[in-house]
Amino acid sequence: MRVDVLTLFPEMFTGPLDSSIISKARQSGRLRINVVNIRDFAKSKHKVTDDEPYGGGPGMVMMAEPVVSAVEHVIREGAKEGLMSPRIVMMTPQGDVLTQDMLRDFAIAEHLVIVCGHYEGIDERVKEILKPEEVSIGDYVLTGGEIPAMVLIDGVARLVPGVLGKIESTQEDSFSGGLLEGPHYTRPREFRGMSVPEVLLSGNHRLIRRWRRKEALKRTWERRPDLFAVAPLTPEDLELLEEIKREQESDSHERD
Ligand code: 6GU
Repeated sequence: MRVDVLTLFPEMFTGPLDSSIISKARQSGRLRINVVNIRDFAKSKHKVTDDEPYGGGPGMVMMAEPVVSAVEHVIREGAKEGLMSPRIVMMTPQGDVLTQDMLRDFAIAEHLVIVCGHYEGIDERVKEILKPEEVSIGDYVLTGGEIPAMVLIDGVARLVPGVLGKIESTQEDSFSGGLLEGPHYTRPREFRGMSVPEVLLSGNHRLIRRWRRKEALKRTWERRPDLFAVAPLTPEDLELLEEIKREQESDSHERD
């Protein structure tokens, strides 16, 4: 996959995109990330990329010309490589709130072009020309689209085939099956008087699988019951949920 990120602050991307799994994915060639400075596409001598809003008001607005030129440039580069026309994504708090389903859909693209807004926003005509998909990472306001773009890239990268070691490592993700993940443990067996649950040491894979599923259901029930509205549940899941509710009932009676 080729990803072009267009930003006025390319230096923000060094670090997150040069560490850990993303860095390995780039070295392996499975993920090619190109950070483009929108300022390089400014026409004026002083490379101006923002201006005051028409109609007045606080803050600055990103000018249309440098953004559109930068996007058109990376589209041409992709085409030269024989890539299909890219998904163009604009990071903005006014966009659709990113979900794991959206990440899975972006992960099958050959070419992603991500535009990061900054300041008060981008000249509205950019949207009319490029028709980008507008994406937000949640209902809160950040200074710019750069950190949201990194969130998107990170979430997409780990779904690109071969980026993570084992495919299983995304199969059991929180949200992938519509549920939260249960707890994990590693050595030592006992830490500050607390033991690892016995079943995990039993070697009985059927029991371990059932315990893990129950813990995932329990955690989802306690923290995100809203997820049950869409999570696909098996008859065994419904049985486990009944068990969980019974146990919590008897716990609450014990406390009375
Ligand atoms: Cl994509 N941009 C900004 N500036 N703030 C945000 C956001 C994006 N998503 C949530 N908050």
